[in-house]
Amino acid sequence: MALIESVAFAVVIGALYFYFTRTFNYWKARNVQGPKPVPFFGNIFESALRYVHPGIITKRVYDSYPTEKVVGMFRMTTPCLLIRDLDIVKHVLIKDFDSFVDRGIEFSDEGLGTNLFHANGETWRKLRSRFTPMFTNQKLKNMMHLINDRADKFIDYISEITLKNPEQDIYPLVKKYTMSTMAACFFGLDIDTLRGDTQTVMRIDKAIFTPTFAIEFDMMYPGLLKKMNMSLFPKDIKKFFKNLVETIMTQRNGVPSTRKDFMDLILEYKNKNALATINSDAKVEELTNGEIEAQAFAFYAAGYDTSASTLCFMLYQLALEPEIQDRLRNEIDTYLHRHGDQIELDTLNELPYLDQVLNETLRMYPIDDTLLRKAQHHYKFPGTNVEVSQGQILLIPALGIHHDEKYYPKPEIFNPENFARENVTGRHPCSFLPFGLGPRNCIGIRFAQTQIRVCAIRLLSKFRIEVSKNTVRSFCFDPYRINIAPNKKLYVNFCPRMNL
Ligand code: HEM
Ligand SMILES: *[C@@H]1O[C@H](CO)[C@@H](O)[C@H](O)[C@H]1NC(C)=O
Ligand SMILES: *[C@@H]1O[C@H](CO)[C@@H](O)[C@H](O)[C@H]1NC(C)=O
Ligand SMILES: *[C@@H]1O[C@H](CO)[C@@H](O)[C@H](O)[C@H]1NC(C)=O
Repeated sequence: MALIESVAFAVVIGALYFYFTRTFNYWKARNVQGPKPVPFFGNIFESALRYVHPGIITKRVYDSYPTEKVVGMFRMTTPCLLIRDLDIVKHVLIKDFDSFVDRGIEFSDEGLGTNLFHANGETWRKLRSRFTPMFTNQKLKNMMHLINDRADKFIDYISEITLKNPEQDIYPLVKKYTMSTMAACFFGLDIDTLRGDTQTVMRIDKAIFTPTFAIEFDMMYPGLLKKMNMSLFPKDIKKFFKNLVETIMTQRNGVPSTRKDFMDLILEYKNKNALATINSDAKVEELTNGEIEAQAFAFYAAGYDTSASTLCFMLYQLALEPEIQDRLRNEIDTYLHRHGDQIELDTLNELPYLDQVLNETLRMYPIDDTLLRKAQHHYKFPGTNVEVSQGQILLIPALGIHHDEKYYPKPEIFNPENFARENVTGRHPCSFLPFGLGPRNCIGIRFAQTQIRVCAIRLLSKFRIEVSKNTVRSFCFDPYRINIAPNKKLYVNFCPRMNL
């Protein structure tokens, strides 16, 4: 009996082993180099078990093959291609975009899957063209009063809390600012993230940004999440955004208010559409409530955490580099003096050094560490012998590229000179990818840059950011966060400037 059991056991193990390694010949057969996979996990063992942030894994693979244009790897058992060569990157993101429209993450439409970030193909095209007009310069200009107001309140808050204790953990602190700005600009909500109860928003923060194993499941069996009507995100989140959208719609009786936030733009669009339907026979596609909820979710989620991490890393680096901070502060003081202490959208381009500091921050810390694209069909990159098959996922390792000394000398040093004009001109246009590139780049770039700049200007005009006794000199990226965020608390001192 025992013998039969052991044999059965061995057979099962053998079958499982065979099954979970069945694809591992894929790249060898195609003569593409790459790291050796382990059964079941492929090359992402450490991130699947949350030992290491996935961005570090793709960076390591990038670093290990300095002479290859592409590297074949496995996310779980699914082969995918990591792109190292910047000309190929340009083909994927820009020149041959139509062959690489999707990100290849699919989950249930009922579970917020129709949001702009995760939507595919025609759905994505429809949504992108519908929401692009909401991100124009004029729309952003109309929101400046909201951003300025949040920044002023945030500075008051820091002045108050730092009277008691100048030493603050920056990441949760700046999140208070970006959360309240996003809530104000997108939903017309005055949530008091500063002194009020933040339990709900922090619960939602955790639910959105803690990676679930649905991610690895989707890598293992692409498309199956969607077939099974499952979501990448807990049900809680869907409910939260459904309630949020319903509440705001009801508050405004279905017509735009005077706030000119995103909900107004959506209501305006809905009403215009309703008119068009009455006045003509042409069928205009409606925006469903489900789609509105999914976008509310996407804009909120994509909007506050990325900007908060960027501000956090920027302030941390400025604390470590007082000379850079002083130079930046001089530029800011001159700017504010020239404009009677007013910050306006049209004048923000008068701060070139701030732009350099911001870009250098995003170079060292590209919050979305790896860009994703899926091949819509079989494709051969012009002038190379690199081919990909339909459905293949391509990884573009922004973190690896940004830390390659081929493009940035001494990449581990924070050096805004990397973005001095002369130095930018000589570099490949795809060597800097914090917001992606091409038709599917970040839709919120200008909004992000603006909310970050306004906050940085106000902060540095009122405070010196200094290292404190708990400032760490090294940290890693938190494997329990989807985006890049520090795994340690980053403390700095906020010291009020004298003679102001
Ligand atoms: C520093 C802040 C931000 C960073 C670093 C960032 C980065 C990115 C990146 C790398 C992508 C993918 C681009 C690609 O695949 O080529 C993306 C997409 C996106 N971002 Fe941002 N983002 C930021 C702020 C924002 C804000 C404020 C919004 C708000 C509204 C936003 C909304 C989106 C959306 C909706 C997409 C998906 C676009 C599409 O697929 O068509 N992001 N972002
Ligand atoms: C998918 O799941 C949602 C709940 O998450 C449910 O409301 C919906 O009816 C389901 N749809 C299908 C087709 O099963
Ligand atoms: C900084 O990056 C943005 C895009 O991410 C770009 O538009 C801008 O020109 C860059 N500035 C400099 C000085 O490189
Ligand atoms: C370009 O970068 C190098 C190396 O960091 C730096 O020494 C040089 O000053 C930069 N060029 C300009 C014009 O700032």
